[in-house]
Amino acid sequence: MSANVEPRRWGASLEPNLFELGRDGRRATVMPAWDGDPVDVTLPAAYLRTDPCDLPSLSEPEVMRHYTRLSNLNHHIERGMYPLGSCTMKYNPRLNEVVAAMPGFADLHPEQDEEDIQGLLCALNLLQDALCRITGFDACSLVPAAGAQGEFLGMHVIRALHLANGEPHRVEVLIPDSAHGTNPASVVLTGMKPLTIASGVDGRLDPEVVRAAVGPNTAGIMITNPNTLGLFETDIVEVARIVHEAGGRLYMDGANMNAILGKAHPAKMGFDVVHLNLHKTMSTPHGGGGPGAGPICVTAELAPFLPGPTIVEADGVFHLDDHEGECRPAIHAYQGNVGVCLRALAYILRLGGDGLERVAERAVLNANYLLRRVVDEGLLQVDHPDGCLHEFIATGRDWKEAYGVRTLDVAKRLLDYGVHAPTIYFPLIVEEAMMIEPTETESRETLDEFVEILRAVRAEAAADPEILHRAPVHTPVGRMDEARAARQPDLSWLGPCNCG
Ligand SMILES: Cc1ncc(COP(=O)(O)O)c(C=O)c1O
Repeated sequence: MSANVEPRRWGASLEPNLFELGRDGRRATVMPAWDGDPVDVTLPAAYLRTDPCDLPSLSEPEVMRHYTRLSNLNHHIERGMYPLGSCTMKYNPRLNEVVAAMPGFADLHPEQDEEDIQGLLCALNLLQDALCRITGFDACSLVPAAGAQGEFLGMHVIRALHLANGEPHRVEVLIPDSAHGTNPASVVLTGMKPLTIASGVDGRLDPEVVRAAVGPNTAGIMITNPNTLGLFETDIVEVARIVHEAGGRLYMDGANMNAILGKAHPAKMGFDVVHLNLHKTMSTPHGGGGPGAGPICVTAELAPFLPGPTIVEADGVFHLDDHEGECRPAIHAYQGNVGVCLRALAYILRLGGDGLERVAERAVLNANYLLRRVVDEGLLQVDHPDGCLHEFIATGRDWKEAYGVRTLDVAKRLLDYGVHAPTIYFPLIVEEAMMIEPTETESRETLDEFVEILRAVRAEAAADPEILHRAPVHTPVGRMDEARAARQPDLSWLGPCNCG
């Protein structure tokens, strides 16, 4: 295989901002003068401006070029591979954006009467049905706006069931040590108590460890399947039996559902609740802080504890049932992030059952292809190298020992080659972890190129580790103080007069 890869320059580091680009008198749009009756809008004097707002003056092409340049300073899936494990940064078909932006959906107001929004209610009802079929459950709530919010709602629903059954003491929730950090956080927010249990040497849950941990206070267990090591929990049916016999319920973190779409039903595995990350699995990009959707699907036993209002159909007409007099949770306005839900519906309908299965097959095939190549060609060490589902976890342990470079340095150098870095240092149970998820939308050529990039970076580490310590050098900004960037973000341009 030829090593035809080299670092590439991303773009200029210092783009002029809109204020510097602006020239007095330029305009992007000139609105026609109002020719209707004068409108009397009286605002309180305290809110009125006393001097004109100092906004930049630019033409439309200048604005377009500015934002296009800015967008290219960042890495995105249209620019190159994005193997950010656990985040499923795959390509999302544009058609689904078109569907979500259709005026019959996008121009609605959530306070409109039911008869005005029949099309939307029908679409959301279809999505609920589709998600129930995909997961094998009886009822669905589209309301949660993120995976973590789905977890919170799911745990709340389990807590509500125990309270309704007169078992308020059931507050302990078992969580494997490989879990995503949001899992214990969601449990704590519902007033329950997370108890960490160790994964077995094969990276999976050991039913005997679960048996030893359950007791009269067990509320349930939260399991990610496939787990964050990219492995399917093969003893899940036995684990479900043990937890149910102890009176607990099973929550599945279904954020990794892209690996088993159409192949396995969470309900058949013995789970009682699952959340899906529509913004990973079904056509909305994860990351970037944009809107998400983390719907939950539940068994009939838990359905009465879902948030209202719920969509019900009678004789082809859709209604929003407020469940008056019932105590239902409220976690988000209206029906959640509807645009994300519409993209997911378009994604499901366009692919159909066979297409969804192919998504899972290709996600798993791509991850295994990459796993085999990086392990067999001595580029990365993997603690569980015998196969994975949609992602695998490598360790940078040997890079550290042999060349004195850390996983962080490898990740930063990959940026110089034009690919996004994998997720690093997660899961916590793998030393110097690199979590690699190629996703089903990458071609074999792209995967091969990623292997060549890793080979080139490994050769650099062997020849001169300083290259990696200094990286990235081709990105618009170099290595940042990430703690400071998170704690003291500098998000606004202060203008020449405020800069001191
Ligand atoms: C396994 C797992 N669980 C939960 C979450 C949380 O989802 P969100 O970021 O939407 O809150 C993620 C996010 O990637 C995840 O990978």
